[in-house]
Amino acid sequence: MSDALTALAAEINACTACPLHRGTTQAVPGEGSAESGILFLGEAPGANEDLQGRPFVGASGNLLDEMLREIGLDRTKVFITNVVRHRPPANRDPLPDEIAACDVWFRRHLEALQPKVVVTLGRYALGKFFPGESISRIHGKPRRVNGVPVFPMYHPAAALRQPSLRADIRADFQSLARMLASAEAAPRAVAPAAGEPRHVAEQGTLFG
Ligand code: URA
Repeated sequence: MSDALTALAAEINACTACPLHRGTTQAVPGEGSAESGILFLGEAPGANEDLQGRPFVGASGNLLDEMLREIGLDRTKVFITNVVRHRPPANRDPLPDEIAACDVWFRRHLEALQPKVVVTLGRYALGKFFPGESISRIHGKPRRVNGVPVFPMYHPAAALRQPSLRADIRADFQSLARMLASAEAAPRAVAPAAGEPRHVAEQGTLFG
């Protein structure tokens, strides 16, 4: 990781802004690089992540790794983090206050990484950009939200629970790969600048 990301991870490791840090082994700040310009945003660390201090290292992570491989990537070339950076007790859903307290770290990752696209995995990550939207309606349809290009996807855990969703996730990864290939020459833009990338529309889909 870059020096900036390593320094940010140290800050996240020391975070006590919400009660979630109590009773965890450690924070899970996120890992990877800016090489591909893709930032994956999951939900929350689980038991394996809490023990290892790394995101997506359990069964969901295996599926994420498989999908990345299918589009010629691996986790060292993308950045992976979560909506909350400490494991919620007994893997319960993160609470609105906890999500809000952790938002500062997502903003800092956006600033540090300047991603071409944020891939949201599951409904909590989706909710940061599209509150109240249904993932089954908008997965695979990239949008720019407040200057951030967002590509909504199902959470890998959903596909593990419901195998019929695997085809959707696989197709969305293929769309993502095509989007990135077509945008290769476009500038990175968290805040859209002159020559705004053509690949993500403000309210339309790339492929629609
Ligand atoms: N592991 C993570 O790091 N995040 C999830 O959302 C699920 C598993």
